[in-house]
Amino acid sequence: VHIASDRNLSDMRFPVQYVIRPNLNFRGFAGTVASGIIRKGDEVMALPSGKRSRVKSIVTLDGELQEAFSPQAVNVTLEDEIDVSRGDMLVHPGNAPHVSSEVEAMVVWMAEQPFVPGRTYTLKQTTRQVSAEVAAFRYGVDVNTLEHRAAARLGLNEVSLVQLSLTQPLACDPYRTNPATGAFILIDRLTNNTVGAGMVTSVGAARNDLHWQRLDVDKAARGALMGQRPAVLWFTGLSGAGKSTIANAVEKRLNLMNRHTFLLDGDNVRHGLNKDLGFTEADRIENIRRVGEVAKLMADAGLIVLTAFISPFRAERDMVREMLPAGDFVEIFVDTPLDVAEARDVKGLYKKARSGEIANFTGISSPYEEPERPEIHVDTTREAPEAAAERIVEQIMGIWSPDL
Ligand code: ADX
Repeated sequence: VHIASDRNLSDMRFPVQYVIRPNLNFRGFAGTVASGIIRKGDEVMALPSGKRSRVKSIVTLDGELQEAFSPQAVNVTLEDEIDVSRGDMLVHPGNAPHVSSEVEAMVVWMAEQPFVPGRTYTLKQTTRQVSAEVAAFRYGVDVNTLEHRAAARLGLNEVSLVQLSLTQPLACDPYRTNPATGAFILIDRLTNNTVGAGMVTSVGAARNDLHWQRLDVDKAARGALMGQRPAVLWFTGLSGAGKSTIANAVEKRLNLMNRHTFLLDGDNVRHGLNKDLGFTEADRIENIRRVGEVAKLMADAGLIVLTAFISPFRAERDMVREMLPAGDFVEIFVDTPLDVAEARDVKGLYKKARSGEIANFTGISSPYEEPERPEIHVDTTREAPEAAAERIVEQIMGIWSPDL
């Protein structure tokens, strides 16, 4: 059994903290040996560049050393002028860590604001900082029972195995073999607060074996054949706000204009593809993630896709927006105040929610986050469905006019 100790003496990792150049004759790399032993004369490789040289000297305030090990802070000089900068790592060429912009890690979340796909954070590991975002939540871990469960975001004190996508490659080891280079923190880019801590489980895993198959016939070609610009019209609003009614009226108009369309409706999709999902926060996030992927595929097929889901969370609506090219996602806020939707109560659900028969009901026992800048805003207290549909069609034709 391999028992992780907090010090690894076999794999030399020297993250560069500063490049020191007091005069033209001296160029040193200052840092703390993270693991292993670095010796004078060693052949070393700089990561991520892969450039090689030899250790000329190891200098400290107390003079030169023959070797240094963790956690000594030293200055390393090299025989050759290779390009090394802050955040790079010196290693032995025969024993290099993985370098990848895809890492899988166990992450514990430490902020009130959840960790969600689509949001970018700064990942700091040793002396390196890169931008990171979630590519996928593999599974959540119940910290009491250690059971795995589906996860679509990470709340305060929650733990999940996460696939991270980085903007630049990171040289790192699994935490199990090297805690010094396998640990990182996640920092909120706006507040600069540390919001998460992670342990790398594998580097360049799974997703690197999955390649994206390039196909010759693309969205533009399919759309051209249909004589239209594919897009997603995303209707959002409370239950009973009128999303389905208005989306239906918009689809009818587009159909009469010989446009090829498809309407994905919450109640219907929940009878099939998403019949395994309920109305907890996690299930709603998964609901929208799947609908977003399906809408994207249908738009790729050339269609004008209309979706009518409450889609109560801003983060997931934005996630779908970011999955699509700019301009292809049109957010339509069907704005009906809660008291109006409740007074109409077309399906009788508000009554049930008030009496406690239905849990997690949007607007009553579950939140609805209004869009901040929807492309189109419909105030249903002032505009009838048919009039709203007519205006929506006009407005999207205006948005798309250069392409039609
Ligand atoms: S979403 O929040 O995940 O986007 P979705 O649009 O798919 O919701 O489904 C909403 C529909 O499910 C409502 O119009 C209503 O008919 C029904 N429903 C059943 N239970 C709930 C609930 N707890 N909250 C909201 N809608 C519910």
